[in-house]
Amino acid sequence: MSSKPLVRQLIGLAFLILALTASSVYAQEIKLSVDVSKPGAKIDRNLFGQFAEHLGHGIYDGIWVGPNSTIPNTRGIRNDVVAALKALRVPNVRWPGGCFADEYHWRKAIGPQRQITLNPNWGGVIEPNTFGTHEFMDFLDQIGSEAYVSVNVGSGTPQEAAEWLEYMTTAQPTTLQKDRASNGHPAPYKIAFLGIGNESWDCGGNMSPDYYLSQFKIYDRFVRNFNPAQQDKDQMLKIAVGPGGDEPRWSEWTETIMKAYQQHTWSWDMNGLSMHSYTVVKWPPAFASVGFGETEYAQILKSTLEMDGMINKYSAIMDKYDPQKKVALVVDEWGSWYAPLPGSNPGFLVQQNSLRDAVLAALNLNLFARHADRVRMANIAQMINVLQAMIMTDKEKMVLTPTYYVYKMYVPFQDSTLVPVRFEAGTYAHDNISLPRVDVIAAKGKDGKLWLELTNVDPNQPAEIDLNISGMTAKSASGETLTAPKVDSVNTFDAPKTVVPKPISARAQGGDLTLKLEPKSVTVVSIE
Ligand code: AHR
Repeated sequence: MSSKPLVRQLIGLAFLILALTASSVYAQEIKLSVDVSKPGAKIDRNLFGQFAEHLGHGIYDGIWVGPNSTIPNTRGIRNDVVAALKALRVPNVRWPGGCFADEYHWRKAIGPQRQITLNPNWGGVIEPNTFGTHEFMDFLDQIGSEAYVSVNVGSGTPQEAAEWLEYMTTAQPTTLQKDRASNGHPAPYKIAFLGIGNESWDCGGNMSPDYYLSQFKIYDRFVRNFNPAQQDKDQMLKIAVGPGGDEPRWSEWTETIMKAYQQHTWSWDMNGLSMHSYTVVKWPPAFASVGFGETEYAQILKSTLEMDGMINKYSAIMDKYDPQKKVALVVDEWGSWYAPLPGSNPGFLVQQNSLRDAVLAALNLNLFARHADRVRMANIAQMINVLQAMIMTDKEKMVLTPTYYVYKMYVPFQDSTLVPVRFEAGTYAHDNISLPRVDVIAAKGKDGKLWLELTNVDPNQPAEIDLNISGMTAKSASGETLTAPKVDSVNTFDAPKTVVPKPISARAQGGDLTLKLEPKSVTVVSIE
């Protein structure tokens, strides 16, 4: 008798033992527990805000094509983009910048005669001013969102900003109200948020903290919202420039503003302190947005998690001067910032958006949610065609990015209530980089359901989730997961469905839930 079958059997057995060992090591079960009876802070819908600057094709081509365009539009605003954004329930849009805001003069962009100016910050290109106040407010109306307007502190005056607010908000028959009416909008506009300057420590005018503080107080005092519907309820919230990174100068800046806030008098106040933090690893941005491997995947995700340390640091300073947490930390610029796509105008900040960006978005949204008592607003940079965009367009074509789908999956978390979740995240390690393998948040939605987001950071191994729920009996669960073949998989105009959510099955039984997370995936499930 030949010994070959026996050898084959032995080899087969060895493989089986190896496979079983490997699966017990890697397909490790992650145990989670949530207690629905112990709700935490509200996850403000404004955490899911967007940022649209006059930069590259962010506004022109991305939103505005003009009423005479062959691209289907409503009063010049793209119908395809509006339909896509409506599905995200975008709570607020920050506009017109960014650095652009501190060179913006609103009068040049109203009425029948628009002034043609330049955009020196972003490629030195022509700014036609065809998208101005009325077009922005029309866009918000079409997508169902609220205005977060940044006024020009760097090269404008308090008077210019005050008159802009009067133009937008007064119901009284002033000259500015009549101008607004003759430009097509007799009723006052609602301005929900006002940003006073942008990065005033840098592109907004290189101000010292004390200099900015005195400017802030002047703008805060005189730039008033006159909308009758915003006097008692729905008051406009004013947001001061805050830190922009991790260096000691940002702590000094935050200390200066918050210390003054503690002593503030009847004549000035503030409701938010802005924080900007991009995932960039090194400056100038050098990481490729597509065509990268696992090492760059791990490096970028490690870098993005530094957001948590920054929020902790600035929250601690804010707690010292504002223990009641009246002032929100507003992360109104965040997201990935990579090298410009080859062949694109470097001033237009064009980059691809991959599965890595979806994971990055989920990790940040989760950590904002965990800090929901202080972080009550955030704006990803930027909405369309710029940096970590939701949407990319090319003439009549439009594609939704992996980040878009993350925002869509998170809609149920808007204005939900955080529910604490306990879990051992495990570790994903690659090239001397160690990261928490799994990240999870849980919340009670406005619909009464328990919602969970579960991110499996590990690009190689699935994660078996075993969730124990107390405070409710789980009867059924359903959800969606977003993953793709590779860490750098993207959606393109020709292949728009490479990274799209797919249904996931979860088993709910006797208060427990089990589900398997695909490697490198973002999953949202609801439990009833
Ligand atoms: O989002 C691009 C730019 O980054 C913004 O204009 C500026 O505020 C920041 O430095």
